[in-house]
Amino acid sequence: MTTTMTLHTEDMSLRPTAKHVQDSVHMFLAQQIDSLPSHPTELANAMKYSLLGGGKRMRPLLCYLIADAIDVSTKDALVIGCAIECIHAYSLIHDDLPAMDDDDTRRGQPTCHIAFGEAQAILAGDALQALAFSILSEPDWLTDRLQSKVALVHTLALSSGQQGMCGGQAIDLAATGKNASIPHTLETLTQLHRLKTGALLKACVSMPLLLKPDISKEHVALFDTFAEKIGLAFQVQDDILDETGSEAQIGKPQGSDAELHKHTFPALLGIEGAKTELQNLVQDALHALASLPYNTSALVAFCDVLIHRDH
Ligand code: IPE
Ligand code: IPE
Ligand code: MG
Ligand code: MG
Ligand code: MG
Repeated sequence: MTTTMTLHTEDMSLRPTAKHVQDSVHMFLAQQIDSLPSHPTELANAMKYSLLGGGKRMRPLLCYLIADAIDVSTKDALVIGCAIECIHAYSLIHDDLPAMDDDDTRRGQPTCHIAFGEAQAILAGDALQALAFSILSEPDWLTDRLQSKVALVHTLALSSGQQGMCGGQAIDLAATGKNASIPHTLETLTQLHRLKTGALLKACVSMPLLLKPDISKEHVALFDTFAEKIGLAFQVQDDILDETGSEAQIGKPQGSDAELHKHTFPALLGIEGAKTELQNLVQDALHALASLPYNTSALVAFCDVLIHRDH
């Protein structure tokens, strides 16, 4: 599987941009891995396997489209997107471990711990997390305004840590199983999804905005609403695909959520209820976009991909 995995979109106009982002991200991250010391080899191989093994690169694409809309350097947005992609890859390696979702396949391949063993998989996740912050803080990349750089590092730390992705994963685990310690309500589910998946997607919007210090608070608030809604919508569609997709299509085990008694939108609202929720979230996201004085047509197309993606 390669990074050229097709993004199914109703709006064909996004395809060349998605391809450009996938290729650029692959090249940049491959260079990062290739410049690591050759020892210990097994760890570098496990990192490479999960970082370059065929993700859709939706997060870097979102960074790119936001930067393009607000007239910030798309090259800088790609560097930010690569840092976020390192956190994303690490989160998936750990998510698949036996202590978490215990899944054996991802992107149509054995998961990292199946291919390299649990210990290397844990280390690969840890090292990818560190790589994300080393990319952001590299002296020659991104802005030379120290304040903006620190703000980027701070935002990614908050989005991925206890207040963000890790916190969401902890709630996910507490809500899993027949004897879950967290009630299966819409409120707890929204909080869970907002953190475990939404926080990192929100960073894809807020981090490029940090490179435009003169943007108004009103516009930042509208972008925040957009990000909040698509962040949630992304996980709602992931939940739906876990039930309705085929393993060949989604590249990971189908029915894994139901088997583990996960707290998901289809489990709580049924498939039709989850689809309605997805439509409502995307409508709210589009509504926020419509109030912004930028050319947001590519972001509208991104929302379309979000609803129609099949993997
Ligand atoms: C899967 O994310 C995990 C979630 C946070 C829902 P993606 O669907 O973006 O995974 P890849 O990177 O494209 O495989
Ligand atoms: C994982 O959510 C979100 C992460 C923070 C990794 P899922 O457990 O639903 O992701 P998949 O379905 O395994 O990709
Ligand atoms: Mg999980
Ligand atoms: Mg999982
Ligand atoms: Mg899932």
